[in-house]
Amino acid sequence: MRRPFVAGNWKMNLNRADAVALAAGLAARATQDGGVDLAVCPPSVYLDAVAAALNGSPIALGAQNMYHEAGGAFTGELSAAMLLDVGCKYVILGHSERRHVMGETSEDVNRKVHAALAAGLTPIVCVGELLDQREAGRTAEVIAEQFTASLAGVSADDMARTVMAYEPVWAIGTGKVATPDEAEAVHLDLRKLIEDRYNAEVAAAVRIQYGGSVKPDNAAELLAQPNIDGALVGGASLKVDDFLGIARGALS
Ligand code: 13P
Repeated sequence: MRRPFVAGNWKMNLNRADAVALAAGLAARATQDGGVDLAVCPPSVYLDAVAAALNGSPIALGAQNMYHEAGGAFTGELSAAMLLDVGCKYVILGHSERRHVMGETSEDVNRKVHAALAAGLTPIVCVGELLDQREAGRTAEVIAEQFTASLAGVSADDMARTVMAYEPVWAIGTGKVATPDEAEAVHLDLRKLIEDRYNAEVAAAVRIQYGGSVKPDNAAELLAQPNIDGALVGGASLKVDDFLGIARGALS
């Protein structure tokens, strides 16, 4: 049975004091075994400070991105070892903003996935279609392409511990949430892709989060779907009540 996993992607928001206050507020209220895994992914300059604020709490730390090289002359980049060093367990890879704003390709994402797994980080690998791709009936094809290329060469054992996130780009930050049926259909497709590439056991183990305008009032219905195993939350992860409200939705 897959344990639900709700992660907050704080994106490029907050200052140091607000990031620490948010982490401390979550740490104070998150219960030790709430039946759901929780993580927050702050801007990388605040990882250290947020790690300190989360210390002793059940909330894990994640980063929003990393570079695939182990070290050297890569100005502005961070390695997997650096993220582990400041206490990260997770790293979001291939978020749509990195794909579509920063121009990351699935091949870039794939190199990062391999580096993260080799270092012992758990990647949260994002896939998702643009609005025009959905309207053209190309959702399944886009998801399959992104999955195949982003996870190329990943072993079955590593796949089983990788987290996937389905984030339809048209639902991110727009308030337009995919209906539970729309989201479930893509999650089911994704699980079938994993089963075809690996086997039923690996497919059953992989947690697939939904992301895109998840709020406390729509979380329970989305997360009740059999193939939706949690949420990757943007805007609503910036408020303690909203984030914990979504976490509760994972349990109902
Ligand atoms: P919103 O929850 O703000 O739509 O963002 C979703 C997201 O991109 C999480 O990674």
